[in-house]
Amino acid sequence: LVLVVDFGAQYAQLIARRVREARVYSEIVPHTLPMAEILAREPKAIILSGGPSSVYADDAPGIDEAVFEADVPVFGMCYGFQLMAQGLGGEVAATGAREYGRTAVTVAEQGTLLADVPAQHTVWMSHGDSVTAAPAGFDVLAATAQTPVAAFESLERRMAGVQWHPEVLHTEHGQQVLEHFLHDIAGCRQTWTMLNIVEEQVEAIRAQVGDGRAICALSGGVDSAVAAAIVQRAIGDRLTCVYVDHGMMREGETEQVRHDFEEVFDVLDVVDAADQFLGALEGVRDPEEKRKVIGREFIRTFEAAQVRVFGEVVDEGAGDTAFLVQGTLYPDVVESGGGAGTSNIKSHHNVGGLPDDLTFELIEPLRTLFKDEVRAVGEQLGLPSSMVWRQPFPGPGLGIRIIGEVTRHRLDVLRRADAIAREELTRAGLDRDIWQMPVVLLADVRSVGVQGDGRTYGHPVVLRPVTSEDAMTADWARLPYDLMERISTRITNEVADVNRVTVDITSKPPGTIEWE
Ligand code: XMP
Repeated sequence: LVLVVDFGAQYAQLIARRVREARVYSEIVPHTLPMAEILAREPKAIILSGGPSSVYADDAPGIDEAVFEADVPVFGMCYGFQLMAQGLGGEVAATGAREYGRTAVTVAEQGTLLADVPAQHTVWMSHGDSVTAAPAGFDVLAATAQTPVAAFESLERRMAGVQWHPEVLHTEHGQQVLEHFLHDIAGCRQTWTMLNIVEEQVEAIRAQVGDGRAICALSGGVDSAVAAAIVQRAIGDRLTCVYVDHGMMREGETEQVRHDFEEVFDVLDVVDAADQFLGALEGVRDPEEKRKVIGREFIRTFEAAQVRVFGEVVDEGAGDTAFLVQGTLYPDVVESGGGAGTSNIKSHHNVGGLPDDLTFELIEPLRTLFKDEVRAVGEQLGLPSSMVWRQPFPGPGLGIRIIGEVTRHRLDVLRRADAIAREELTRAGLDRDIWQMPVVLLADVRSVGVQGDGRTYGHPVVLRPVTSEDAMTADWARLPYDLMERISTRITNEVADVNRVTVDITSKPPGTIEWE
């Protein structure tokens, strides 16, 4: 067992999962858990995660220095690295130099931690303070332009750390470095394999639901499909799947979902709720408010569906529990501020966007997993690959891709532009290489153009093609120029209100994938 001490990192679960990929079982504990309790679990190693704070901030979470005296191997990342430096007698300085995103690192000495890692490589950083002196007895292994001590190790003490985030996809050799720590420095044995998550969940759901019934909110995406398939295994036909068309779906999507899903899930209840959602969104421009309104309307729709499907009003007080299955993933939980001490980046419609007076008890079998793990589970369950490999699409749909108020006309405009972009992406054979490519309508922005000898005064759309492994981090995708040209020409020719096509070239962080 390796314990990841979570200091409010966006990436804590990702670290745990990377450790599991290295075939060592791992769990996360909050930094507020007393060190005596952490050590009582007899971890083979402890990993100190990153966190949003500076070690100098007034409310900076500290670490009980007993962790360094327990003869347990310790690995620090980012903030955890700084805590280690500080706790072991090194120096951390608020140098004012900040490094975010892609950063070049120079390896001075490979040691054990950086064995076989190239002298120059690229890592993902997100920090303000820097370690300026390693603790006594530690070897400095690497530096960056702004950070004199970016990695260190002490084989004698079985401790090491890096300033960067080895757990994120865009850090080169990150997994290799983590495995050097786990296998070569900490001496963890490689015995863990991805347990049958399905079997575990099926048992847990049977226990939770008893002989009750559940409704599953199918969105058409892989997450809710896999969640539904797991619950179906657990409770069979006591599960009813509901698909809500909130009027913000993409072109042809509702028909396709109906077609694809009816074969897998016996009863599919399709609800046309466009009037309800769009009515509730009238005048709403703020992204968080949009998400909250949409989250609330989803629940209202499910409540109504429950009554319709099960033919009775389920009243919490009457002892009859209503279960709602959702395909919530770990990134949704983290980014909605659901991790220990994590910041709320945005309220995912199925987490932070839920109303307070929720009468459903939630079943979320995928809450600790990442998208690619969910896809692996989906394949294990034998779901069709078109379902398993579908690109992600957010629950709030095109509503959070219209910057400004959501109206029917704007939705029609965006729907057409989006359909063209997706069609061309598919035609170019890039669906699997590109994680997703939102098209965003800047509905409150206008620009002057010229078309057919006439002046136009239309709206820009933004193409947001990204590559990613789990949506926690992403890079902008280098689309071929001729593909971008085809998309641009077709959108400006075929969509009357749009006279400009732009491409977003921001990584995540600092951007997010969606614009709202
Ligand atoms: P961001 O914009 O946070 O998106 O970088 C990360 C991934 O999550 C999707 N996304 C959502 N999915 N409900 C969802 O089901 C939501 O409210 C939501 N918001 C963002 C987004 O498309 C990307 O894949």
